Amino acid sequence: MKVTVFGTGYVGLVQGAALAEVGHEVCCIDVDPAKVAALEEGVIPIYEPGLDRLVQENAAAGRLTFSTDPAHGVAHGRVIFIAVGTPPGADGGADLSHVLAVAQTVGERMEAPRLVINKSTVPVGTEAAVRARIAEALAARDRAELDFDVVSNPEFLKEGSAVADCMRPDRIVVGVTRDDSEALLRELFAPFNRNREKMIVMDPRSAELTKYAANCMLATKISFMNEIAAIADRLGCDIEAVRQGIGSDPRIGYHFIYAGAGYGGSCFPKDVKALIHTARAAGCEPHVLRAVEDRNADAKTAIFEKMQAHFGARFGERGLKGRTIALWGLAFKPNTDDMREASARVLMEALWQAGATVQAYDPQAMEETQRIYGSRDDLRLCGTKEAALSGADALVVMTEWRMFQSPDFEAVREALSEPVLFDGRNLYDPERMQGHGFTHYGIGRGA
Ligand code: UGA
Repeated sequence: MKVTVFGTGYVGLVQGAALAEVGHEVCCIDVDPAKVAALEEGVIPIYEPGLDRLVQENAAAGRLTFSTDPAHGVAHGRVIFIAVGTPPGADGGADLSHVLAVAQTVGERMEAPRLVINKSTVPVGTEAAVRARIAEALAARDRAELDFDVVSNPEFLKEGSAVADCMRPDRIVVGVTRDDSEALLRELFAPFNRNREKMIVMDPRSAELTKYAANCMLATKISFMNEIAAIADRLGCDIEAVRQGIGSDPRIGYHFIYAGAGYGGSCFPKDVKALIHTARAAGCEPHVLRAVEDRNADAKTAIFEKMQAHFGARFGERGLKGRTIALWGLAFKPNTDDMREASARVLMEALWQAGATVQAYDPQAMEETQRIYGSRDDLRLCGTKEAALSGADALVVMTEWRMFQSPDFEAVREALSEPVLFDGRNLYDPERMQGHGFTHYGIGRGA
């Protein structure tokens, strides 16, 4: 099938490459000429395991092409994905201007039937708004007779395992009302819908809400655990023991109940905000979602507060001033270079404010850090995790990259001027750390 994907961000690029991999003829459109030129050369703008191979092989086979020309995109695809960004607007709601601009282009350019698939995370009612925009643009050309349909098909991939998630989805949610459109979607997604029925068909508005409900439920699990961790700290309990104790109940489960320095990334913070906005606009006060957001803000500053307390006890109120802190992990989670809403950023900025210098290392996000913060005296970007330790007064771990999970603790202790370890992702066992001679602070580990 001929497919066009508008937007070559995480979702669009991965979806486009995955559809090409199973044999569809995919054209990806982006407004950024530099990005399109790079993609044509096989250069992927983001770090995502397996994506470079997927893009390069399918581009070489001629099944995956890139263009900046929207008219070409509309002419190419029988189905057209909208996978452009929906950044938070000034009022916390999702900004739909990019989505509606694509709808406008489709209405202005289409000459034959088109099925438009909303893949971006969009508020309830967007399918109708896209439909209205296309219809208006068609009417303005006196081509109202041209047949089109708009469906909702939210994406559930996770950064860091985006290719695997997209190639082997656990569900394919489609919000569709017309039988012929459902049939086309079944044909399009058939290669991903093997072994068992994964397609969950519903009305478009429910599909749109499903996406927000999924992310907000996951964010709620995390914030709930961070709240229990804060309580555990005060009571001298261990959140890791509690996690195992509750996760064994299949109604709760082990996924997404890890306490830590808060959730980040481009999705959870934005989607929780957007659903709060949607709920209020619909006349419903979102008590739980507000609490999820508040708890996450506290979770992001918890490690800094522990540092302040530690150094304050030793050196007085301005205890962090002039200290050097080794920071392992900058990305919002492992296996990505994405630093959007990363907890490490909140920490670094607080440390700078307190007069400390940060010596940081991340296996992928160093360039991104440099891009965001530029050169500054209180940020040293180090080439290895060992170099980041040299002469530092403490080590803080903010991203659970595998390479940080079992370092040579003797070497870490020797490199630090004092053996103090702040564990923002609960990677290390407090008792073992004590055995290695560290003062260890975790999240909800009773200290
Ligand atoms: C999230 C969802 O997991 C995907 O299903 C969804 O498709 C995606 O958003 C999206 O809307 O596009 P992602 O943002 O890539 O995916 O990241 P997650 O793996 O969900 O992690 C989010 C944050 O939660 C990270 O900062 C992570 O460290 C934190 N987290 C996760 C915890 O603090 N505790 C946990 O137990 C799990």
